[in-house]
Amino acid sequence: MTAKLITVESTDSTNTAVKQLFDTLEDGSCFCALEQRAGRGRLGRKWVTPPGTALCFSAAFKNVSEAYHAGAIVALAALDVLKNHLPDLPVFFKWPNDLYVRQNKLSGILSEGVISHGKLAGVISGIGINLNQSKEELAQLDNPATSLFAESGCRFEIPPLSRELFARIQELYAEYHHSPQTIISRWQQANALIGHTLEIIRPDGTRMTGIFSGIAQDGAMLLKINGFEERFDCGDVKIDPASLPDFHNSGRSE
Ligand code: BTN
Repeated sequence: MTAKLITVESTDSTNTAVKQLFDTLEDGSCFCALEQRAGRGRLGRKWVTPPGTALCFSAAFKNVSEAYHAGAIVALAALDVLKNHLPDLPVFFKWPNDLYVRQNKLSGILSEGVISHGKLAGVISGIGINLNQSKEELAQLDNPATSLFAESGCRFEIPPLSRELFARIQELYAEYHHSPQTIISRWQQANALIGHTLEIIRPDGTRMTGIFSGIAQDGAMLLKINGFEERFDCGDVKIDPASLPDFHNSGRSE
């Protein structure tokens, strides 16, 4: 049995749909919805995307050694697909797995563990990519955001892009099983903000500023604060444009 891509017209949340189907899905199977009615974001937020404007896509992983590897595979696959279409787009990762263009969010990933009989049975990683929202529509959102249309003037169809993402996830997942470190190192390198001064806002609202010194073995963010390395498992990273002088021109590393 091989992994499948399931596409539906509409669902509440592709992550929830995969959670319901998880036991019946082959490892690596993916689920895409043309309309997502109740998308969920990180830290309990909503992810709102009107029909036809965004890629809403979730993948089921049953064989990763660390939970955060699932998000890393999806993020890298998305980066590769986007680069195929728009090679000059300066996309980079903002920890943990947001894709950014300059100061604007293009895409986010929500990874959720699946627990069965008290054990981690796998991880669902769902990605939302802004495709066709206009600049005016994006301006209504709470935080600075962009879309492929806003960046390139081209409209994107969901089904072909979702097939490309599915195919790239299969390739990277196979490569990951052969050599996990190759994939994780690539993901770390695409975290272009390593070395920059960043602020992290924890779920309880406390803010810390430090130098993003790297990513721990378990995916936690490492910030050097007053000479001491501190780890953060979750939170919102804020980009300080003043600390990134070349940001508008460079964008990402590979
Ligand atoms: C974030 O940046 O907060 C993560 C957003 C993740 C959104 C995607 S859309 C597909 C999948 N289904 C969901 O309900 N959420 C994720």
